[in-house]
Amino acid sequence: MTDTPLFTPFKMRNLTLRNRIGISPMCQYSAVDGFANDWHLAHLGARAAGGAGLIIMEATGVSPEGRITPGCHGIWKDEHIPFLKRLTDFVKSQGAAIGIQLGHAGRKASCALPWDGGKALAVNAGGWQTVAPSAIAFSDESPVPQALDKAGIAKVIADFVAAAKRSVDAGFQVLELHGAHGYLLHEFLSPFSNARTDEYGGSEENRFRFVLETFKAVRAAVPDDIVVGIRLSCSEWVEGGFDVDSAVRLATQLKALGADFIDCSSGGNIPHAKIPSTPGYQVPFAHKIRAEAKLPVAAVGIITEAVQANELIAKGDADLVFIARASLRDPHWALNAAVTLGADVDAPSQYLRGYNASRTTAAKRKAG
Ligand SMILES: Cc1cc2nc3c(=O)[nH]c(=O)nc-3n(C[C@H](O)[C@H](O)[C@H](O)COP(=O)(O)O)c2cc1C
Repeated sequence: MTDTPLFTPFKMRNLTLRNRIGISPMCQYSAVDGFANDWHLAHLGARAAGGAGLIIMEATGVSPEGRITPGCHGIWKDEHIPFLKRLTDFVKSQGAAIGIQLGHAGRKASCALPWDGGKALAVNAGGWQTVAPSAIAFSDESPVPQALDKAGIAKVIADFVAAAKRSVDAGFQVLELHGAHGYLLHEFLSPFSNARTDEYGGSEENRFRFVLETFKAVRAAVPDDIVVGIRLSCSEWVEGGFDVDSAVRLATQLKALGADFIDCSSGGNIPHAKIPSTPGYQVPFAHKIRAEAKLPVAAVGIITEAVQANELIAKGDADLVFIARASLRDPHWALNAAVTLGADVDAPSQYLRGYNASRTTAAKRKAG
């Protein structure tokens, strides 16, 4: 074993990650009727073979209308489970842990695939009626969503619970609720998208209610050894929005409900927000939430270099780093980071000659 912090194991509940590198959830827009297929197996499988400690599968609709696009992954029926079981088995066989991001896209649902322009899809063009806390459109180009009534809120929570149970049946070890990027959970948190006058809107306590109820219901529905966390947008980058102080308060309450980690992202709810996208720009959110809410955090956002990732773990800014775009360019980002940092390279046996090694770390460990 190495003492390189990025390559030290990390334990949440009974799950030990082999290192601190997670593959951030990334929509592939390649599902059909919510079903994953060979693309998802190859994509996630390659990154598991590529050495990451945790792979989080993309934003996954808890209902058909919770998808961002018709190509988004879903888990709203039992028929989705068998292929996912094959996928999770493969990822685990490579030494990585497997998670899934459960989400509802709210007022940002019903869009065309990005490579088809990504614009809102009309109901008569394959789209569907969107829902949100309030009837406030995301942008001038977006349709006005329908405000959820109490029965609608209860149904969404029930959908999250059913999706969480199916995820466990499919072999996922980590559930991440999608509470970021302007999707439904985030929409309830933000005063910009939540203008409700009932107990789900107005005060901060009321705006937190839907997220807390959803989290609590999911946590209660899955076995104790399942790791459950949430991604938050820790700043909306607009004065008066949900910010890092709000995120600390919410994280503290989530921790009391059994949250295992906060994945610290930002933005996505306000189209005109000016986001200072520089290397590691969201790391201060992770640092503050870790220090003040005192639970494990993942840092994400323009973390592209092994040394950068290792340093932020070493400094105690975060417990995990999540890599997104850099891992699209390099599925072996984690193995190459190990080479750069001089850590043990936990390559699959089939790839050892590519790494100038004769035995895998796992084999070495076994041999003592
Ligand atoms: C192709 C693509 C798809 C994405 N899909 C998701 C998603 O499903 N859920 C999510 O929370 N973030 C999603 N993101 C955001 C990433 O998870 C990550 O937070 C963001 O890209 C910043 O990290 P990076 O600088 O390492 O790319 C996506 C990003 C990309 C590039």
